[in-house]
Amino acid sequence: MSPINNVILNKKTNINPIWIMRQAGRYLPEFREIRKKNSDFIKLCLNETLSSEITLQPLRRFDLDAAIIFSDILILPYGLNQKVEFKKNFGPLLGDLNLSEISKLDEIDFVKKIYPVYKAINLVSENSLTTNKSTIGFVGAPWTLLVYMINKQSPKLKLKENFFSDEFLINRILLILEKFLKVHIKNQIESGAQIIQIFDSWAGLLDEKDLPNYVYIPTLNLVDYVKSLSVPVICFPRAIKDYKKYCEIVKPDAICIDYEVDPKKIVKEVKIPIQGGMDPKILLTDKQNLKKEAKKYLDIFKDHPYIFNLGHGVLPETDPNVMDFLVKFVKDY
Ligand code: CP3
Repeated sequence: MSPINNVILNKKTNINPIWIMRQAGRYLPEFREIRKKNSDFIKLCLNETLSSEITLQPLRRFDLDAAIIFSDILILPYGLNQKVEFKKNFGPLLGDLNLSEISKLDEIDFVKKIYPVYKAINLVSENSLTTNKSTIGFVGAPWTLLVYMINKQSPKLKLKENFFSDEFLINRILLILEKFLKVHIKNQIESGAQIIQIFDSWAGLLDEKDLPNYVYIPTLNLVDYVKSLSVPVICFPRAIKDYKKYCEIVKPDAICIDYEVDPKKIVKEVKIPIQGGMDPKILLTDKQNLKKEAKKYLDIFKDHPYIFNLGHGVLPETDPNVMDFLVKFVKDY
């Protein structure tokens, strides 16, 4: 069994597996080389030869324990026929949301539209570089996808004022998202994904009173679905105030924490395996400091099932040599 699955399923504490969110991406010159020639990001995600190669790029350099498929959470609205673009120095930009069109969409057409993602997972999981490593599939949580679909761009710090005004629309979209997210999860697993991570990047935007409707219930439905397919599920409700409560209600197999979470507090509060935590900005400082911070996390989680990762995606300014140093340090610790 791969070390990450071993930590999650068997609660191993004597190994330190590592993978890094956004490990395939802009901090790697070999990624930028491919990206330069492929200006359409979604098209790149849907080119299984290139997307599987990009997925494997970090594994050629570093002894990471997982490959995370090169795709995006916004491939889902794209599959639902909402326009999705990525603008340079701006981020994602989505087109208008047409509820009647989305409501009519057929499962087969959805799968057809994003099929290369599944082919890429298959290529990655069968490549010798992933032997004894986990191939990770992923989705955006319903809430985070809803935010992008309605807001049509990253919300930055807060939602637009009338975000909740059309309750009917919101509830319909959440149900449609649940249906197609399940389809997307199932196809990723059937193509070779051995873990599913659910990214809820905007969970922190909600007040406590809104969490049950938009985060807890829709995510629990997905978590139960992944579990029913006998694959472990990791949840990352970024910036949520109460991780303990989230774990008690949503019950993922492992929880990924952001860098605002106090590791000493969380290790006492939750029993399930923990992943991540270290601030990605630490990789922009010197090696001594990096060692000190990585050691802090490894020591605190010494007797707890722990998967080393960062508290959010690796920053584009990161030096790949520093990443190499970190991976070696964690593996040798
Ligand atoms: O290596 C990996 O982790 C796998 C690939 C991956 C990407 N996006 C590729 C990507 C994963 C797991 C994601 C998840 C994702 N996408 C999230 C959840 C995690 C998080 O960061 O909170 C979110 C919110 C998105 C939506 C998204 N995609 C944004 C906001 C942006 C633009 C800003 C940014 O960080 O680049 C993207 C673009 C994107 N997704 C890039 C990559 C490599 C950069 C594309 C480029 O080259 O310009």
